[in-house]
Parts: sequence; C-alpha cells; structure tokens
Amino acid sequence: GDVFTYDPGFTSTAACSSTITYIDGDKGELLYRGYPIEQLAAQSHHLEVCYLLLYGELPSAQQMIDFETRVTRHTMVHEQMHNFFRGFRRDAHPMATMVGVVGAMSAFYHDSTDIEDPWQREVAAIRLIAKIPTIAAMAYKYSIGQPFVYPKNSLDYAGNFLHMCFAVPAEDYVVDPILAKAMDRIMMLHADHEQNASTSTVRLAGSSGANPFACIAAGIACLWGPAHGGANQACLEMLREIGTVDRIPEYIAKAKDKNDPFRLMGFGHRVYKNFDPRAKVMKESADEVLDLLGIHDNETLKVAKELERIALEDEYFVSKKLYPNVDFYSGIILEAMGFPTAMFTPIFALSRTVGWVAQWKEMVGDSDQKIGRPRQLYTGAPRRDYSDVENR
Ligand code: CMC
Repeated sequence: GDVFTYDPGFTSTAACSSTITYIDGDKGELLYRGYPIEQLAAQSHHLEVCYLLLYGELPSAQQMIDFETRVTRHTMVHEQMHNFFRGFRRDAHPMATMVGVVGAMSAFYHDSTDIEDPWQREVAAIRLIAKIPTIAAMAYKYSIGQPFVYPKNSLDYAGNFLHMCFAVPAEDYVVDPILAKAMDRIMMLHADHEQNASTSTVRLAGSSGANPFACIAAGIACLWGPAHGGANQACLEMLREIGTVDRIPEYIAKAKDKNDPFRLMGFGHRVYKNFDPRAKVMKESADEVLDLLGIHDNETLKVAKELERIALEDEYFVSKKLYPNVDFYSGIILEAMGFPTAMFTPIFALSRTVGWVAQWKEMVGDSDQKIGRPRQLYTGAPRRDYSDVENR
C-alpha cells in the first residue's frame, strides 16, 4: 500500500509556506513580517500590528487612519446576538460562549462564504478583528450578570475593550491609559505565532472553503486547551495554589516526577528551546504595571519569579530546554487589571484573531493549498467477516 511519513503532532511537517511570522526557536526570536516582536511591543500598537500582519507592510499615516476607520465601523455586533448570549448559562466558561457566538456569526454573514471574492474576504477579516473585542467583553459581562456595554469608537482598540468590560451604567468610567497600554501590549504579543495548534485548526477548517467565522470559532475551540491558550488561566491558578515561595520545591518535584501528570504551566514550548521572547517583554510589563498601579508585595509575582529562578537552575528543566513561555507572566498583569482568570484565555483569543485571520487569508489566496487531508498508519484489525450475535 501507500507509504506515509508518520509524524504525530507534526513535529517535522511543514503544511504550508507563509510570509507572515518567523520563529527561530533556538535563538528565541520572533518576527512579524520581519519586524522583531520586542521592537513592535515597545514602539507599535495593536491595530498597527493588525495592519502589518494582514497586509505585510507597516501603514503610512493615512493608511492607518483609513484602517482604523474601517475597523471602528464594524465594532458593534448584530442586536440579535444579545438574545443569543442570553441562551447560555451564566456560569458557562466565557471560552465556551465565544466558541458558540463566533460560530453563530457565520449565520449572520452568509456573504462571507463566498471566499473566492477578495472583497468578501477583506470584509470578513475586518469584521472579525472589529467585533471580537465586543464579543469577548459581552461574554464577560454576561458571566457576571451586568448589562452589555456598547463599543465606544472614540477610544483606541485596547481602551475600548477595557471600557466594554469595566464600564457600568451607574458610574462614570474612564479608561486608565496605563492599563490600556498594557492591554495593547498583551494583544501585540499574542497577535500571531505561525502554525501553532489553533492556527493550524483555522487553516484546516478553512481549507474546505468553510465560512471564515466558523473557521475562527474552530480556532477558539482549539486554543481553549490547557496545553495551548488555556495555559494562562492554568498558570495563574497554579501560582495561587503554590501560594508562598517556600512551597515551590514541592511543585518542582511534582513537575519532574515521571509518574505525576503535573506540568509547570507557562513552561515549555514546542518551538522555543530558549527564552520565549514574549515572556521577557511580559515579565517587564508585569513589573511596570504593578509598580504603576502601586501594587507592591504581590505574592503571586514573587512566587512566579522565584519559580522561574529555581526552574532555570534545575537540571531537569535545563536539559529539556524548558523556559517560561508567553503564558507565564500575562495572568499577573490581567489579574492586576481586574480580570478573573476565566477571562485570560478569551483575551488570548481576541488578540490572536488577527493572526488567525491573516493566516486564513493567506491560505485562501495561495494556489498551492488544497483541502487539508492527513493520512494515517492503520493499526486496527485486518479484514474479517461479520458474525451473527449468537456466534460472538
Ligand atoms: N513541566 C514539566 N515537564 C515538561 C513541561 C512542563 N511544563 N513541558 C514539557 N515537559 C517535559 C515533558 O514531560 C517531556 O519529557 P520527556 O521527554 O521526559 O517525556 C519533555 O519535556 C518534552 O515535552 P513534550 O510534551 O514532548 O513537548 P511538546 O512540544 O509536545 O509540548 C507544550 C509543548 C507547550 C505543550 C508543553 O511544554 C506543556 O505542556 N507546557 C505546559 C503548558 C503550557 O504552558 N502551554 C503554553 C504553550 S505557549 C503558548 C500557548 O500556546 O499558549
């Protein structure tokens, strides 16, 4: 029969060619369209990064204004979506709600299914980037029993998201520019990461020509797992559970124990065998945000730093090249902003949406791409004959 390469987990299979994001895992380098993530995190802003990822170049001043105008024109979701949200249990995880709501958007935008039309692809891309913060904020508001807050287009992308999450009708809410900046940086750091599990899911779903909203819903579903985007929630919960610095060795021992399934959350990466460059920026940002908010003696941050220090000196982690990843410090910042842990992964999803969309657009426009259809090594029963129940 046919001979296939057996590559579970795709550790050595390139499923596509791409011009969007480059990772050098040994060096710990991450580039969006050639630009180092550290420079973008320090000098750019999320919507500019969205433009860069989607169109390949940094925008001129006029291109940026036009792009912002196009995005802000689409920030509201259809009013009927409010009813759709109300069908969910209040205690549903907001990722569950997001999978459902984003998938349901495909029922509102049938025209997007015409993916042969570049204009339809463009509109779908803009709609997704514009609406995803609104959807994430609505999932949050619904989970805490507060009224939905409409987008405020005079605010920037990150500021508007914070507004939709934290404004309440009874009070005035002014977005803290420090928090908006920190949120914007978190968005940039998560914006794309080449062919990770959720992005590959979006590409695979999209390879059949499916509606892009449905494809992004598939990506959100994949991101939810604790080995992927769900790690940010799991990491903060782990740091809280450790609680104090003196309990760290116990958890290090658990992580090293072959018979214990426990892993250090926020540690390790398929591609990075060196520092995750995003974790470095995130750590600095965590220090900065807590400092600016006047939060000193944050026990979780102390535990995180000490855990990192001990793990980086431990033979097990050193020999396996396990370093902190993007999820290690992000939760500390999000917690300081007032988000519950259940919102951490939805914020990852909203930040990654541009990456999913850019990769989806690239795939749809790539004449080399066919429907994704992996093969298998069959290890089941050989051909055999059916037997009647009394003879089994
Ligand atoms: N703690 C303890 N041991 C670990 C860890 C960890 N966090 N990560 C990997 N290992 C060990 C693993 O047990 C294995 O050991 P051995 O070779 O003796 O069997 C070895 O290191 C290689 O691990 P692997 O599971 O084969 O590697 P992978 O490339 O399939 O997995 C990973 C990568 C990120 C899923 C994994 O490191 C992990 O589960 N980390 C914890 C969850 C996490 O932080 N995920 C976030 C990833 S970054 C961004 C994102 O997607 O959110």
